[in-house]
Amino acid sequence: QNKELERLLQAHEWAAKLFHYLLKNTEHGKAAMDYLRNRGFGDKLIDQFQIGYAPDRWDTLVQFFEKRSFDLKEMEKGGLLSSRQNGSGYVDRFRGRVMFPIMNRSGRVIAFAGRILGDGQPKYLNSPESRLFNKSRTLYNLNLAKGAIRKQGQVVLMEGFGDVIAAWDAGVQHTVATMGTALTENHAALIRTLTDEVVVCYDGDNAGQAAALKSIPILEGAGLHVKVSVLQNGLDPDEYIKTYSKERFVDQIIHGAVSTTKFRLIHVKKHHNLLEEDGKAAYAQEAIGIIAQLGSPTEREVYLKELSTEVGVSLESLKQDCNLARQTYSRKQAQSQNSNSNRSNGADAS
Ligand code: UTP
Ligand code: MN
Ligand code: MN
Ligand code: MN
Ligand code: MN
Repeated sequence: QNKELERLLQAHEWAAKLFHYLLKNTEHGKAAMDYLRNRGFGDKLIDQFQIGYAPDRWDTLVQFFEKRSFDLKEMEKGGLLSSRQNGSGYVDRFRGRVMFPIMNRSGRVIAFAGRILGDGQPKYLNSPESRLFNKSRTLYNLNLAKGAIRKQGQVVLMEGFGDVIAAWDAGVQHTVATMGTALTENHAALIRTLTDEVVVCYDGDNAGQAAALKSIPILEGAGLHVKVSVLQNGLDPDEYIKTYSKERFVDQIIHGAVSTTKFRLIHVKKHHNLLEEDGKAAYAQEAIGIIAQLGSPTEREVYLKELSTEVGVSLESLKQDCNLARQTYSRKQAQSQNSNSNRSNGADAS
C-alpha cells in the first residue's frame, strides 16, 4: 500500500519533469510558452513553479510510463491517465494544457492543474481526488510559502494559481490558494498550524466577494484573525498587478486589507443608493446590524462615527438604533443556542 503511494508520487514527479522539459525545450511547447510569456511568466517563475506543458496527444504519459514499467491501471487510479471510453487501455488525462504541478507541504508533486491555452471548457482541468490528493486539505504553494508565512506572521489566501504566482513575483511570498473549491475547516486548521493571521484576497467579482464573506466565519472559527482585501472592478489579484503595478498591489491590496466588519460594511453599501433618503436609511439599518455584533463599545463607536458622517445622521440616533439591534441580536443568539442544545438533548434522549 505504501509502496503504491510511493510509486504514484514518483510518477507525478516524473510527469512534472517531463511536462516542464516539453514546455521549455520542444516544438510542442512553443504555443504554451508564448501563452505564458503573454501572461508575464518569465523563465525564473516557470522554473520556480515547475510549470510545464502536456502536448495535445493521447499518449505522452502512456508511452513514458510503459517504457518505465509503471502499472497503467495504477496511474489511472492516481489521476494521471484515463480509461479509453471505447475499447480497452488508457490515454493521457491532460492534453494540450499548461501544467501547474501541485505540491504537498513537503514539496512532493501530488496532483496537477492543467490550463487550456486561451478560451474553452473547462478552463482548468484538475487531478481527481485520490489517495494522494485531497482538495479540502491541500493549499497551492504551501511548500514554498510556509517559511515566509511564519516569518511574516501572516498568510494571504487567494483563489487562483495565477494569482499566487503573480503575487510571488510582486514579492508577496506568503501566499497560498485553495484548489477551486470552497475553503474548508481543514484548510483553516492547516493555516492555523503556521500562523494566526489571514488576509483573504479573493477575486473582485461577485463570486469572489461572496466566497470571501463565506470564508470569514470558517477562518475565525479556527482561531484566526482575519483581514480582507478589497479588489474593485471585478479584477483578480493577477489582473490587478498587471493593470496597476506590483507596488500598488502590495500597498493597497495587501497592506490596505480591511477588518471583516469594514469589509461587510463595504459589501452592503454597494446594494443601496445613498443619494436617496430611503437608500441611506436602509443602508444605515443594515450597517448597524453588522456593527451591533461587535463586542467592544469602543469598536462600535468607531464604526458608528464613520457611519454618522457617511449618512448624515447624528451619532446619538445611530447609537440608540445600535443598542436596539444589540438586544435583537443577543436574543437571536440565545434562541439559536437554545435550539442547538434542545437538538442535542433530543439526540441524547433517543
Ligand atoms: P478563476 O475563474 O478566477 O480563474 O477561478 P483564474 O485563476 O483567474 O484563471 P486565469 O487567470 O484565467 O488563468 C479561480 C480558481 O478556480 C479554479 C482554479 O483553481 C482557478 O485558479 N477553477 C476555475 C477550476 O478548478 N476549474 C475551472 O474550470 C475554473
Ligand atoms: Mn495575533
Ligand atoms: Mn474567479
Ligand atoms: Mn480569477
Ligand atoms: Mn486570473
